[in-house]
Amino acid sequence: MTFLPSRLHWSKLPMYLADGCRSVQTCSAMPDSPVCYLDTRNASASSAEIFASLDVCETIAGIENNVADIQLRMFYQQDAWVLQLPGEKTRVTIDFASGEFTRRLLAPNIMAEAVVRAVRGRAPADAVVRVFDATAGAGRDAMLLAAAGCEVMLCERLPLLAELLAVALSNAQHDPLPELSAAASRCQLLRGVVDSAQLMADWPHAPPEVIYLDPLYQHSQASGKQGLKSSALSNKLMRVLQHIDALYAPRMPKPDPVELMEAALRLAKHKVIVKRPPAAPPLAGLKPASQLSTKTVRFDVYPR
Ligand SMILES: C[S@@+](CC[C@H](N)C(=O)[O-])C[C@H]1O[C@@H](n2cnc3c(N)ncnc32)[C@H](O)[C@@H]1O
Repeated sequence: MTFLPSRLHWSKLPMYLADGCRSVQTCSAMPDSPVCYLDTRNASASSAEIFASLDVCETIAGIENNVADIQLRMFYQQDAWVLQLPGEKTRVTIDFASGEFTRRLLAPNIMAEAVVRAVRGRAPADAVVRVFDATAGAGRDAMLLAAAGCEVMLCERLPLLAELLAVALSNAQHDPLPELSAAASRCQLLRGVVDSAQLMADWPHAPPEVIYLDPLYQHSQASGKQGLKSSALSNKLMRVLQHIDALYAPRMPKPDPVELMEAALRLAKHKVIVKRPPAAPPLAGLKPASQLSTKTVRFDVYPR
């Protein structure tokens, strides 16, 4: 359980957690638990060391194809870690500094992004809104919010994903594009925290204005039965996130979305926003006060 001092300023929280508050709750893994095969050949020694130290990663000399318990492969290419699903060509890089997503981040109409409209609501365009993204995942929503002027703290429970996100944020912070590096600098990833619900229950001092929740849902089920339509890229990304989640299933307790929602509702200063597939039931069965829907996604709004 994460312990935080009772009066700690919002801005000091990431440093506090990075310095000494590292609590990783893990169950002992089953002997045949799936692993991520890690090819460290082109990576820097420090980055390779971090990923190799994770208990879900097994370092290999090359890309092996015929191993039954492979859940995921990771290798380093063109300054980024690439994730590949077994037996598939699908490759995903968690990277804000290249490709279509960068253009979306830097677009002049960033304030029109649905997630931005849901989170910022009627806040004036120049207002700095403090957001806690309790289910950071690949950090895409957090970066959209930061590009729209929010100050975002992020927490991701899966250590492998949290490390990938840390690399992506650090690369974006050092990107030559000033708008991109400024957005990444408004994001602070809380390291060493596993469960956001526990963190929110012990939150030190100033509560975040908005708490943003986007818990993982079963993608195939969601797209088939709950009306989810999404881009090819976000489909691929979600499948990779599900594979990372499956790596940890035998090793970590599953998070409880009801606990997460209750903790968020207790802590948020102004509101909680929950992202859902368009036809999915509301999180924890709680009816939102209002909704913002697009063809691909719905944001449920819970004012405080
Ligand atoms: C659908 S993804 C979020 C995607 C993210 N919004 C984005 O834009 O990339 C959900 C993530 O929340 C994480 N998560 C779920 N419950 C959590 C909890 N209680 N604490 C921290 N992270 C959690 C999962 O591990 C998963 O990576």
